[in-house]
Amino acid sequence: MSKLIVANWKMKLTVEEGLSLLKEASTFSDYKNDLVICPDFLILSQAKSILENTKIRLGAQNASISERGALTGEISAHDLKYLGVKYVIIGHSERRRIFKEGSSAINDKIQTALRVGLVPILCLGESLLERRSGRTRPVLSSQIKSSLKDIKVKRSGDLIIAYEPVWAIGSGKPMSHDEADKVQNYISDRALKLTGKRFRVLYGGSVAEDNAGKLLEQKHIDGLLVGGASLKADSLKSLLNA
Ligand code: PGA
Repeated sequence: MSKLIVANWKMKLTVEEGLSLLKEASTFSDYKNDLVICPDFLILSQAKSILENTKIRLGAQNASISERGALTGEISAHDLKYLGVKYVIIGHSERRRIFKEGSSAINDKIQTALRVGLVPILCLGESLLERRSGRTRPVLSSQIKSSLKDIKVKRSGDLIIAYEPVWAIGSGKPMSHDEADKVQNYISDRALKLTGKRFRVLYGGSVAEDNAGKLLEQKHIDGLLVGGASLKADSLKSLLNA
């Protein structure tokens, strides 16, 4: 199975920069990994037409807990689907930390995304403090339990997990590929126990051109969730052949 690169552009590019990068990406050819781009919400409808005749799929960086309602400022998963979005990042550590998203909201968002037919990319990860106190596995186990509580999926492709050690995000210090491989194996087993499905598990956190290849060689790393290195055409392209 080919590996999956998910480009998380966060709120780092202007509308013009985002559109120009999408246009460049739409000219990429002959690459081996699959690509999902999660741009700014504001360019999603233009992204749909720019990427129309390409293999690139669209993702969103977040979605609301409900499909519709009195929820000022929220974005409906249903409308994302209408705009051509296939994947949605849920529970990114920036949303957990800055926007105080807790496990119950994350669980609701996953349920909603699944109901409307989007593939949730559930983000998990331990903080530096949790790592230093040797609590990485229990922390991940509890995040898996609460996020996937009562989640029912038909196929293992209906949901993706992204393991992103919080201390590795944007720090320039990724987890080593062999440690990431072991932790991801653990995550995959825990999720299998809980749901009966073996989901793909991506790694995220300071992925760069020079470490992507080694990470992708690992048995339990099914792809990469990439922030910084996905913001320039050259490095994005090189990740596709890593
Ligand atoms: P990074 O971000 O690749 O810039 O570390 C990853 C992420 O936050 O998804």
